[in-house]
Amino acid sequence: MSERLLLIKNGEIITAEGRFHGDILCSGEKIVEITAARDAPEGAEVIDATGRYVFPGFIDPHVHITLPFMGTEAKDTWETAGKAALIGGTTTLIEMVCPGRDEEPLDALAHWQANAEGIAPCDYTFHMGVTRFDEGVEKQLRQIVAEHHITSFKVFLAYKGAFGISDEELYGILRLAAELGVIVTAHCENAELVAQLQAELVAEDKVGPEWHEPSRPTSVEATGCHHFLTFAKLTGAHVYIVHTSCKDAVKVIQNAQKKGVKAWVETVAPYLVLDKSAAELPDFEGAKYIMSPPLREKHHQEFLWKSLADGTIATVGTDHAPFDFETQKRMGDPASGGNFTTIPNGIPSVEERIKLLYTYGVAKKRITLETLVRCASSEAARIFGLYPAKGAIAVGSDADLVIWDPSYEGVISQESQTMATDYSAFEGMNTIGRAETVILRGRTVVVRGEFTGKAPEGRHLHRSPGYL
Ligand code: URP
Ligand code: ZN
Ligand code: ZN
Repeated sequence: MSERLLLIKNGEIITAEGRFHGDILCSGEKIVEITAARDAPEGAEVIDATGRYVFPGFIDPHVHITLPFMGTEAKDTWETAGKAALIGGTTTLIEMVCPGRDEEPLDALAHWQANAEGIAPCDYTFHMGVTRFDEGVEKQLRQIVAEHHITSFKVFLAYKGAFGISDEELYGILRLAAELGVIVTAHCENAELVAQLQAELVAEDKVGPEWHEPSRPTSVEATGCHHFLTFAKLTGAHVYIVHTSCKDAVKVIQNAQKKGVKAWVETVAPYLVLDKSAAELPDFEGAKYIMSPPLREKHHQEFLWKSLADGTIATVGTDHAPFDFETQKRMGDPASGGNFTTIPNGIPSVEERIKLLYTYGVAKKRITLETLVRCASSEAARIFGLYPAKGAIAVGSDADLVIWDPSYEGVISQESQTMATDYSAFEGMNTIGRAETVILRGRTVVVRGEFTGKAPEGRHLHRSPGYL
C-alpha cells in the first residue's frame, strides 16, 4: 500500500532559525518536501493554512502524570494528559519517572512505561529519576541507558525524606552520568533549609498557603543551584536545571556557565504568568497555586521573559503536576488540621503552555515566534537527543506539525479543559491564538481545537545522547 500523503499549503512556516512561506508535503510519518507553492500530488489530503503559522510539534520536557507524591497520586492519566497536550499543540511529552527510595529503578521504569504504553495519544519519553544510589542502582541505570533508550537522569535536591538524595549519592550519579554521556536534570532547592524554615513557620502557627513561599525563598533555590553546579563542575557531568523560578537562580547558573559548566536552564509556564500573590488568596484558594519552587514576586517574571528572549533560558516546560483542589490540595487545609507543608505541590498546565507563551510572550512582543519555537520545541529536542526527528520542520523530520490560528481569542476555564483536575490555575485569563490543527507523525489528531485522534497513537521515543 502506498503511504498517506498530506500537503499543508500556504502557511507561514516558523522554525527556531527563521520564518518563510511555503508548502509542506508529508508522506506517511515524515516530512518529505518543503517548497514554494506546489500542486497537490494525486490522492493527497490538503490542508489550507492561509493566514496561519505552521510550527513544529511542541515538546514539553517536564511533566508528571504518574506521580505518587505527598500521600496521594496525581490526577491525570496518560489519556487525559496526552489529549490535553495535543489540544494545546504539544506532540511530545517527557515525563519524570519518580521512584520511591525503596523501589528498584527497573521496576519503576516498567511501572511508568506501562501507564503510558497503549494509552498515550501523543509521543513520549522519560527522564529516569534517581532517588537512591548504590551498586545495585548503578547496575540498573547502566542497563536503562544501554537498553531502554533513556539518556537523561533526574535528581531532587529538595523533598527531604522523600525523593531527596544525599551528597554522596549525588556525586555518584553525576560521575556515572559523565561516564555514560547522560545529562542530569535537577530540582535545585536546599532540602535542609526548606525543612528548617517549614518547621519554624509551622511552630509559629504560620500554616496557610501564603507561607509556602517564605519557607522556600529565592536564596534557597539559588544555593541549591550553586551546590548542584559545584558537583557538576567537579564531575564534568552535563546538567539541566528544571523549573527555575527567579533571577537569583538564573544568575547563579550563568556564573557557573561562565566557569565552563555545561548547564542548561528550564523555566516553566506558571512562573511566567503567575506570581506569589496568587498563593496568598484567602479561604485556602491560594493552595491551587502551590508548587515548588514557589511562585515568586512579580518582578521576577520580566527577568524570566528577558532571559528567554536572549537565550539564557533554554526551554519552557510546565512541570505539569495535577492535583484536585477539593480532594487533594485540601489535605493541607488548616481548617481541618493541615498546613502548607501538606498541600500536594503542583500546577496543572500541560494544556495551556503554548497559548500562554503566545499570548503573554509573542503577542506582547516579549519574545519572537522563532524564540517560541526554540524554547518550547527545538531546544528540548536538541538537549534530550530527539533532534531533528522532533523539534524541526525539515525534510526527514517527523511530520509533527501545529497549524496555529493567531486571530483566535479565548478564555481559559476549567469547564472546557481536558486535564482531569477540578480547577484551572489560569481561570478567566484571556488568550490569543490556538492550535487549530495538530498533526502527529502525519496523522491529524486535532481539528478546530478539538481532539479527533484515534487514541492511542503515541509512541515511546528512543533517544540518543543530546548535546554531549
Ligand atoms: O511543585 C512541583 N514542582 N511538583 C511536582 C514535583 C516536582 O518538584 O517537580
Ligand atoms: Zn521539582
Ligand atoms: Zn517536576
